[in-house]
Amino acid sequence: MGLEMDSVNLVYDIGKELQTYALKNINISLEGNRIVGVMGPSGSGKSSLLYTLAGLKCPTSGKVYYNEINYSDLSPDKNAELRRKDFGFIFQKHFLIDYMTVLQNVLTPINDDSKEAKMKAVTILDKLNILNLSGKKPHQLSVGQKQKVAIARAFIGEPKIIFADEPTAALDYEATINVMNFLKSYRKEKMIIIVSHDKSILEDADSIINMFDGSIISTQSGEEENM
Ligand SMILES: Nc1ncnc2c1ncn2[C@@H]1O[C@H](COP(=O)(O)OP(=O)(O)OP(=O)(O)O)[C@@H](O)[C@H]1O
Ligand SMILES: [Mg+2]
Repeated sequence: MGLEMDSVNLVYDIGKELQTYALKNINISLEGNRIVGVMGPSGSGKSSLLYTLAGLKCPTSGKVYYNEINYSDLSPDKNAELRRKDFGFIFQKHFLIDYMTVLQNVLTPINDDSKEAKMKAVTILDKLNILNLSGKKPHQLSVGQKQKVAIARAFIGEPKIIFADEPTAALDYEATINVMNFLKSYRKEKMIIIVSHDKSILEDADSIINMFDGSIISTQSGEEENM
């Protein structure tokens, strides 16, 4: 059970003169509930790795499996259904719906406005210290507050895996600590994959994948073993 990549390459601008190998021969297996950090310089392929693992980008060659299912064996509809049921996303851009309130935005993935669902949203917003914003619209919020709403939305459907691309990039120090504590509070229940430039926020990760120039150059687990 988990995510697996088998000889994955992701090439942009195929057929053009100048191609970019965003991912080069990636072999990786991620299992169990834990926090996985993905680190590396800008352009090293971190986002590409995350989106390919989540089935949002198709590899140019190689295979990607979720619970032993090859994404490319599923129809686009089945892929979308799987993502909706099992995955939560925190993107670099927040993609909130501007005519909806914060509470409504958080509830959109589950399409449920029962009392129970609202209570769940309230609990999450409270943990992120933004319960006071639940009636506001996105345009009334700061960039960091919007980011927190997007984080709450990613958790509402109780996904099995969270894919987070620079989830704290827009946050100040205090909000970063709050969000990291929030994410860590789920580490026994979910796999949480966090892409970040910032080494300090990944200090407590259960394992780290280090990327450079489209390749995984090393992986470390909490016990500091190198593979
Ligand atoms: N849509 C695209 N078309 C062409 N090249 C792309 C595209 N998206 C990414 N690339 C290239 O693929 C490589 C990996 O990009 P990627 O976004 O995965 O890096 P990253 O590690 O997430 O960087 P950052 O830290 O800046 O977000 C880069 O060289 C980038 O220029
Ligand atoms: Mg990126």
